[in-house]
Amino acid sequence: MRSSRPARCWNSLRAPQLRFYSNVREQQPPPWRPVSALDEWVERQARPISLRQLTFFGRTLTEPRLISSANYVRTELPTRLAHRLRDIQQLPYVVVANPHLSLVYELYYKAFERFRVIPEICSLDDNDRFCDVLREMLREHLVVIPNLAMGVLECRDLVAPNEMDKFMNTLLRARISRRVIAEQHLALTETFNSPWHFPDSHERTDMNADFVGEVFLKCKAKQVVERCGRVAQDLMRQTSQTAQLPEIKVQGHLDATFPYILSHLEYIVGELLRNSVQAVVEKYHDSSQPPPPIEVLICETPQHVIMRISDQGGGIPREILPYLWSFSKGPRTQSRLENLGQVPAMAATMQELKVSERKYDREAWYEGSLDSLTSRPPNLRLGMGLPMSRVYAEYWAGSLELHSLEGYGVDAFLQICKLGNKNEQVTTRAAIDAV
Ligand SMILES: Nc1ncnc2c1ncn2[C@@H]1O[C@H](COP(=O)(O)OP(=O)(O)OP(=O)(O)O)[C@@H](O)[C@H]1O
Ligand SMILES: [Mg+2]
Repeated sequence: MRSSRPARCWNSLRAPQLRFYSNVREQQPPPWRPVSALDEWVERQARPISLRQLTFFGRTLTEPRLISSANYVRTELPTRLAHRLRDIQQLPYVVVANPHLSLVYELYYKAFERFRVIPEICSLDDNDRFCDVLREMLREHLVVIPNLAMGVLECRDLVAPNEMDKFMNTLLRARISRRVIAEQHLALTETFNSPWHFPDSHERTDMNADFVGEVFLKCKAKQVVERCGRVAQDLMRQTSQTAQLPEIKVQGHLDATFPYILSHLEYIVGELLRNSVQAVVEKYHDSSQPPPPIEVLICETPQHVIMRISDQGGGIPREILPYLWSFSKGPRTQSRLENLGQVPAMAATMQELKVSERKYDREAWYEGSLDSLTSRPPNLRLGMGLPMSRVYAEYWAGSLELHSLEGYGVDAFLQICKLGNKNEQVTTRAAIDAV
């Protein structure tokens, strides 16, 4: 079992907040005057973006556009961090004192303080330095997901489960949003700096490119399902040494293609298929019959692409069903905590699932530079697969539903907005106040 980290010094954790409140008492400023840097940034609204905006903006990549993207990220990150810091401050004292949650708070505060003082980016050199800071933040924050998950589980008796789940959803969604804008800017900078792309051109435009930054313009549902299916089967083969793996059949609108951030889609489809493969293999473990296939139906409508993943793995165990989407409650809390203790860092990507040090083929996986920094064993049940997949699905205004047929199997429905015109679903101030 993992030994828990020593409790962090409360003084260091609360220092910014205490300063904020003591200011309030000492100066009694009028309500319209900001009393601290955090207050001032909390007042600012996040400016959400859509996949379409990300694509159009990055398509014609000029120096002024790159600089403008840098300045958007420079002001947007501290704004979004400020909102989340305020969320954490509003939790009860005993919850924020939890060592895992206080670690997250400190990381966020450090990043907020760092980004809010970065002066306007005016040149490519400034941008290069800015990108170094971004990369460092992305790396440092890889510990956030497991720490949040452990903190929320450890504090499950201190706050109502629904509130805890709402808090976790808000923080995870916001975390995705910060990583999207940071990684998009890093990817655009990388494209801009690629001399082999358009060596003699100042306007580095490639109208036929498959990627604009992190956005994959030609996400083909069938290919994603097949690729994730192979990985799910491969991982199961390595962890269970079973010879009998269910086949994965794809039918329906096999040409459905849409713009999406590939790593988000791969995570969701990968986790759903992993669950299905696990359930079928467990059910047919001692059977002489071959396991029934997992059937994936792709359905394309004018606005959406819907994927239905159907397995015959026996359905969701009855005692787990009510807690399927919860980060904080359910019957397996202790084992989840123990398993999370073995995963110090998590990017929440499909690529980080690794049985050994073996790496997947770079070309086939469109790996990002951060993927190699984290890994998690696929047979550790963290209880994160479904709730995290839903956070990803809803982030781009999609949805994820599960229907369990007791004793028979599960149908999972994933709906994607295929036009890319929906804004990212970042939490609004109203939701923050509700926490
Ligand atoms: N297709 C399925 N068939 C049967 N049971 C399922 C299916 N999908 C999920 N479950 C049940 O729901 C539980 C929660 O699933 P979830 O993916 O959220 O977490 P996990 O699989 O336990 O861990 P992780 O995905 O983090 O490795 C699973 O442990 C399993 O018992
Ligand atoms: Mg799972």
